[in-house]
Amino acid sequence: MSSVAVLGAQWGDEGKGKVVDIYSEFADIIVRFQGGNNAGHTLVIGEEKFIFHLIPSGILHKNKTCVIGNGVVVDPAVLLQEIGKLKKKGVFSDDSRLLLSHIANVIMPYHVALDRAREDKLGEKKLGTTSRGIGPCYADKMARVGIRVADLLKPRILKDKLSNILDLHNFILTGYYGQPPVDMERVYDEYLKYGELLKPHIVDTSLYLDNEMRKGAKILFEGAQGAMLDVDHGTYPFVTSSNTVVGSVATGAGISVKVRETVIGVAKAYTTRVGGGPFPTELFDDDGQYIRDAGNEYGSTTGRPRRCAWFDAMVVNYAARLNRFDGLALTKIDVLTGLPRIKICVGYRMNGEIIDHLTPEIDLLERVEPVYEELDGWSEDITTAKEFSDLTKQARRYIRRIEELTGIPIVMVSVGPERNSTIIRKNPFR
Ligand code: GDP
Ligand code: IMO
Ligand code: MG
Repeated sequence: MSSVAVLGAQWGDEGKGKVVDIYSEFADIIVRFQGGNNAGHTLVIGEEKFIFHLIPSGILHKNKTCVIGNGVVVDPAVLLQEIGKLKKKGVFSDDSRLLLSHIANVIMPYHVALDRAREDKLGEKKLGTTSRGIGPCYADKMARVGIRVADLLKPRILKDKLSNILDLHNFILTGYYGQPPVDMERVYDEYLKYGELLKPHIVDTSLYLDNEMRKGAKILFEGAQGAMLDVDHGTYPFVTSSNTVVGSVATGAGISVKVRETVIGVAKAYTTRVGGGPFPTELFDDDGQYIRDAGNEYGSTTGRPRRCAWFDAMVVNYAARLNRFDGLALTKIDVLTGLPRIKICVGYRMNGEIIDHLTPEIDLLERVEPVYEELDGWSEDITTAKEFSDLTKQARRYIRRIEELTGIPIVMVSVGPERNSTIIRKNPFR
């Protein structure tokens, strides 16, 4: 098939960036379609490490076009910083290799201020957002008071829209949250400047993708976050503010759902989440700390320690149902090396009864008790494995068990952060 979507199957940070980087070689265009700079996608190539927040992870491949679709919320300062860094490194010079949708919504300084103020006010009950203004920006989009990328090129329209919305947001910031107001003139000048700087990238990306697809271009869609952070299907309200499941590809890129895609879910060989919310298989013991240390489980965006947990087949099966995964990329299996016993959650127990499917109501999820199956671990280094058969018997058994429990073939196994530390069992572009 000519397009592939790569989507998170857990709570984000599954290693989507690495998987997208690997598949980019076989694609012509790589597209982000939702989320914003709450995402942090890490690529390790040789000695070099790149963390992308907005730019698609395919940018390191020469001659590929990267698209930031209409469904993404864009902080222009962050995007310009990312572009600047990559240009300095000589990664790209041709502006037409990075296209930004003219109708994507823009994250404004008052969105960031509101995100922080809300979280502060919630105190103990905070969601643990990345404080990048994501929620308030999507809220304004839905309330039809958002600023869109094209508005940054139209001084009069920008001023009009800003004066409409800023009054209200400043009223809330100062009156309700006791925060300083955001200055209209400063924002107006600053964002017009961003518009000028981003102008070479701004196009109708939906039209561009349609034209390219008609010519036979191969498209790779790069999801951000994961199914359990989906605003509808995740652990609401401990979620992000966009849809992270496959339906979002169409609306966020401006293409039809009839465009056929191979859908690849990315799952860690265990589970992590940052921020608050229920997490049935969470570990509070030495095994959890072992995974955090071995997996360097600290957020790519905020540096926060990630909560670590056993692999939860209930979660991945739920993500698989919502997305109809054709294959799974299983990452970070090397991190489990050294654990004598490894657990997999195969079901939940509630009030003495076994539940075989996940329901995203948090009051229920907080009460479920995971049912575990234990498998033998291994101690041999597996980070140089190139083929499935190079893995230890126990690691192969673990992978096969996940395939049995999910009914989905594991098409890629990642055994280290580096691009080459990857076992490709089936290439979805072939
Ligand atoms: P994303 O947001 O889904 O792209 O994932 P992140 O980049 O936030 O987090 C994944 C982290 O794990 C990054 O630091 C990657 O470099 C690292 N990583 C990816 N795959 C592997 C792997 O197979 N083994 C190890 N040890 N690290 C990996
Ligand atoms: P990638 O693409 C992991 C989490 C935050 C918080 C919740 C809401 O790197 O996988 P937000 O700032 O979006 O309003 O925060 O969502 N979150 C992520 N967790 N990986 C991410 O992105 C995340 N993006 C948001 O920690 O719990
Ligand atoms: Mg991440």
